Amino acid sequence: MSKILRSTNVADNILTALVSRGLTAQAFLMSLSFFKRLLRSFNKTYRENNIDKNTEIKTLYIHVPFCKNPCKFCCFLRFRYREEYYRNYMKMLQKELDNVVSMFELKSVDVYIGGGTPTVNQEGILELLDKIHELVKPRTVTVEANPATLRDTCFIGELSKKVTRLSIGVQSFCPRILNTIGRINHTVVDSLVAVRNTLKKFHTVNVDLLWSVPGQTVIDIIRDCKIIAELGVDQVTLYPVLAPPWRDLRKVLQDYITYRTLVEFLLKLNFKPRTVWCFSRDGNLIDEYIVESRNFLGIGAGSISKVGNRVLANAFSLTQYMKKVRANGVSFSYVTTLRGVEESLFNLVMNMFEYGNSRNMSLMFIVSELLRTLFFVVAWFRFTALTLETCYSKVRMNTIAPSGLLAPTLMYCLPNLSIANLAQYVTTHIIGLTGCIVQALFS
Ligand SMILES: C[S@@+](CC[C@H](N)C(=O)[O-])C[C@H]1O[C@@H](n2cnc3c(N)ncnc32)[C@H](O)[C@@H]1O
Ligand code: SF4
Repeated sequence: MSKILRSTNVADNILTALVSRGLTAQAFLMSLSFFKRLLRSFNKTYRENNIDKNTEIKTLYIHVPFCKNPCKFCCFLRFRYREEYYRNYMKMLQKELDNVVSMFELKSVDVYIGGGTPTVNQEGILELLDKIHELVKPRTVTVEANPATLRDTCFIGELSKKVTRLSIGVQSFCPRILNTIGRINHTVVDSLVAVRNTLKKFHTVNVDLLWSVPGQTVIDIIRDCKIIAELGVDQVTLYPVLAPPWRDLRKVLQDYITYRTLVEFLLKLNFKPRTVWCFSRDGNLIDEYIVESRNFLGIGAGSISKVGNRVLANAFSLTQYMKKVRANGVSFSYVTTLRGVEESLFNLVMNMFEYGNSRNMSLMFIVSELLRTLFFVVAWFRFTALTLETCYSKVRMNTIAPSGLLAPTLMYCLPNLSIANLAQYVTTHIIGLTGCIVQALFS
């Protein structure tokens, strides 16, 4: 580490860390006010005139929120897999799909099926994929998968006929790191088998890796990238574990050095940055769904849509989601309009997401920190919305997976645990959460 520190410009490092910290705090406050407004619109009755149906939609996101063993670090909307919930959910998802297809002209769309673990049930995902191909004739289809679900080569063969890009969540090839993030649903061997089983069977195979995990060294993550290159993977997405913007400045500085080292290492292996987090060896690969278009539709619990200047979010709890789709065919629960400068900021964020220029690593890191903060706010919005709906609909608590958000947030304060730090975290979160719920209930 000290060698790396010496070889890079120390003043530049500190300046980048300071700028990114200042900007992320600013971005945090701005996005917080937007998400608070979205939250306050809870249960706004969806009306047909809420959205302009002539808007050109090029991207369709479909959420499948079930996992066999939810990981403690994960902040996406996911529930513990139960056959009965899964089957009921998939029925509603198909109903919602029928509905959006009749509402919008979805021609040559890019479909992104994320989760949760969309491949958690082989029959279920193949049936959904058939329905998608029948209804929307997609341009491309991306599916997220957990390594434990990619052992069966017959299933992979079937999947490859219907899917263009497969994204495998490996997270790390180091058992110690898998243990730190509470990843108990697969082993390192499962990941190696999954990658070997799927390579060359899909147009693109992407592997997700995590960095900035507490206790993870630069050597650990460089070793992961080396394995990726040796296996012959086309694309790797390096996610920094979501973190609050008020992290210790030393930690931001350390992350900058890690990021630089990683990018330099990947460039040497011939991986080119496609975005600040996604690197590929082939120029024609497909990126994250959101990059593809400025208007997108999301179906499934907790999905977010942007149609023109309207932002809509579906219900988050399974009960609310199913109730809404049964009654209205769609499950929009939160609707708001992007105001004046917000639309420009939204476009700016989208442009930033596409930014991947290895010649300016400081800028890439600042963008990475901004996106990391934005996703952190989205994660809190998700968690608050789910809590709100759960209280509102008085559903049984066993339908809720343990929050994956508190864990990554806490992971950042545990290594420098002090009474002052802990008090700051606890108070901020309690005030934030209570404030949002109270505002939503009384507005
Ligand atoms: C929604 S998950 C789906 C992946 C799949 N279920 C699996 O088991 O790997 C997509 C990716 O988001 C990333 N992710 C999840 N939680 C995260 C967090 N707290 N911070 C950063 N990235 C996260 C992980 O790298 C994960 O592979
Ligand atoms: S990262 Fe873990 S909890 Fe999150 S979606 Fe994948 S399997 Fe589920």
